[in-house]
Amino acid sequence: MALLLLSLLLLCARSPEPAMAGDPFAYFDWEASYQSARPLGVAQKVIAINGQFPGPPLNVTTNWNVVVNVRNALDEPLLLTWHGIQHRKTPWQDGVTGTNCPIPAGWNWTYRFQVKDQVGSFFYSPSAAPLHRAAGGYGGIVVNNRDVIPIPFPFPDGDLTLFIGDWYVKSHKDLRRSLDAGAPLGPPDGVLINGLGPYRYNDTLVPPAITYERINVEPGRTYRLRVHNVGVSTSLNFRIQGHSLLLVETEGSYTSQQNYSNMDIHVGQSYSFLVTMDQNASTDYYVVASARFVADPDKLTGVAILHYSNSQGPASGPLPAAPDDQYDTAFSINQARSISGMLPPAAPAPTRRVHSIMVILP
Ligand SMILES: *[C@@H]1O[C@H](CO)[C@@H](O)[C@H](O)[C@H]1NC(C)=O
Ligand SMILES: *[C@@H]1O[C@H](CO)[C@@H](O)[C@H](O)[C@H]1NC(C)=O
Ligand SMILES: *[C@@H]1O[C@H](CO)[C@@H](O)[C@H](O)[C@H]1NC(C)=O
Ligand SMILES: *[C@@H]1O[C@H](CO)[C@@H](O)[C@H](O)[C@H]1NC(C)=O
Ligand SMILES: *[C@@H]1O[C@H](CO)[C@@H](O)[C@H](O)[C@H]1NC(C)=O
Repeated sequence: MALLLLSLLLLCARSPEPAMAGDPFAYFDWEASYQSARPLGVAQKVIAINGQFPGPPLNVTTNWNVVVNVRNALDEPLLLTWHGIQHRKTPWQDGVTGTNCPIPAGWNWTYRFQVKDQVGSFFYSPSAAPLHRAAGGYGGIVVNNRDVIPIPFPFPDGDLTLFIGDWYVKSHKDLRRSLDAGAPLGPPDGVLINGLGPYRYNDTLVPPAITYERINVEPGRTYRLRVHNVGVSTSLNFRIQGHSLLLVETEGSYTSQQNYSNMDIHVGQSYSFLVTMDQNASTDYYVVASARFVADPDKLTGVAILHYSNSQGPASGPLPAAPDDQYDTAFSINQARSISGMLPPAAPAPTRRVHSIMVILP
């Protein structure tokens, strides 16, 4: 076993190509470990990075060289994937199984890559063990523009990241065991927003004592909201009560700027919206991510709270409605098609990715 691990490491330890001289370096020191949490009211182990779940952001600027030393304090191999980051200089560093090696338990590994010619919102997550992502371990990647190439919208007053995703109460190991035994994965148990369970918008549907995400904002300000679906298999509809979502970017491409009252976000997708806090704060507002194409969307609904500093009371009443076409994939496809007229990227990208639509049917 030890020999196997050693040869694995040697195989992986090819020296990376020299990074571009002159471009700045950003160093990160991370430890992945288990942490106990009860997002849906049931105690379970989640994967935290430096004790945080979701993990710390990787906040860098175009062309920076990124060096991330990761210590794997889990009891099984860990491979981090940097979704959407194009590794042109170091293609084996992209953390996809087959092109990079998992970090054995108890070892560390230094990922080195350059965020060359990219700008936008991305995320990282574990991917070695099947279903690792079902245990957390994810976090945001923000690649900022260089000052010489401005963004095609006014600089926002604030920058917020939201991770939405389906969630299982069973541990990823139990899920893997049942899959290995030929049992289906089954429906998830809920939807988390930033690693937290739903606000108790309905006493029947949400148990008491669940910690929920509260997003604090100032009236009149405009925030850039980076929303990532980090789940395992569930497409989610994202919306904020009383507020429009002005879509500006998806996975490194600026979009034509359009307002949406809600947006379908499929697994693995990332979107940036500008949201102006233009309501009168008579109450807090619901932030909702609810499952699409499932029989029981009530159970699979994540709810966070948008709280103005001058809010006059808690959010109440029904959640803002989802599109009423629970099984109609045409809505989702038409919406994805409406995201067109991509502007030229702010940073020249080597390849333009066609925005693909993945629709998961029941
Ligand atoms: C990233 O870091 C810059 C400073 O280098 C800061 O101004 C910005 O708010 C940070 N962005 C995020 C999303 O944390
Ligand atoms: C592991 O971490 C230690 C301490 O942070 C560092 O000295 C060493 O170079 C790292 N090893 C690898 C393979 O990155
Ligand atoms: C809570 O949800 C249940 C089940 O869907 C529903 O019957 C009830 O009317 C809801 N309660 C409120 C206060 O909306
Ligand atoms: C989007 O909606 C906001 C109001 O929330 C409005 O101020 C803005 O002009 C709209 N933008 C576009 C491009 O429709
Ligand atoms: C705030 O908005 C709500 C909903 O539109 C409205 O019912 C209420 O009268 C408004 N309050 C003020 C003080 O404008």
